[in-house]
Amino acid sequence: MPKSLPVRNSRDTPETGAAGAPGGQAAIAPRQTPMTVPRFVAAKQAGRKLAMLTAYDHLWAGLLDSTGVDALLVGDSMGMVVQGRTTTLPVTLSQIIYHAEMVVRAVKHALVVVDMPFLSFHVSPRQALANAGKILKRTGASAVKLEGGVNQAETIRALAVADVPVMAHVGLKPQSVLKLGGYRIQRDEERLMADAHAAEQAGAFGIVLECIPQEIAARITRELTIPTIGIGAGPHCDGQVLVTQDMLGLTGGDIHPKFVKEYVNLREIVAGAVRNYAAEVRAGEYPDAAHSTT
Ligand code: KIV
Repeated sequence: MPKSLPVRNSRDTPETGAAGAPGGQAAIAPRQTPMTVPRFVAAKQAGRKLAMLTAYDHLWAGLLDSTGVDALLVGDSMGMVVQGRTTTLPVTLSQIIYHAEMVVRAVKHALVVVDMPFLSFHVSPRQALANAGKILKRTGASAVKLEGGVNQAETIRALAVADVPVMAHVGLKPQSVLKLGGYRIQRDEERLMADAHAAEQAGAFGIVLECIPQEIAARITRELTIPTIGIGAGPHCDGQVLVTQDMLGLTGGDIHPKFVKEYVNLREIVAGAVRNYAAEVRAGEYPDAAHSTT
């Protein structure tokens, strides 16, 4: 089952950001310039779409970063993708810090954004500030993300006032799964508009729109000056984010959310390679002379 939906430094050189490759190719050119929060925001004004993916460890972060992807999210989706849990709720602050440290060590170009786990920012703006501080100081990441709009406006403001770059997340908020009773598309337009505007007014530098109708995402994208990053929110957002393991066909499973495009079936490719390896070992064919030392 795809994990994204369980229904489911001083970086001051000029922008040379990656644009779409010629001939309609979807490939992202390797980035020459490290992404910063101001460049991320400026991409919207420049009409350049932003490509974001999740990363939870050093190996994948380095590989993804080498492609020129704009941003990497150390998402609390790691609770499902890495830890095998059914929700993101058990992920702790120290776990997300542990994973973000690995990611930051590998990244040279992408903006690294780290999710604030469930109940690590809800108690008070003061608690949020303390925990966001731990995340940024211990990991070297560039920004935090938290789920909320109107209900977290005070907290977003407190972080922004302290110069902590904060990305908001509205629409389907996986951390609200207990209250919602499941993972459902969010369709209340007035509420979504209010959440998006509240996040921007409070000082968020960007906003994730998860599982909302594309027309509402288009309206939010038009009305906000900060970039909207969609996941299951249609093509009109300023950028897109997916769980890497979903788009690489690693998570598999029976439920396929419509928005997840599998660009490759790595599950099949990896399983095939492992089966070949095991067969060769059992047949005494590996290691052969070419892979042995004399
Ligand atoms: O945790 C996560 O990976 C996320 C994205 C799917 C937006 O919040």
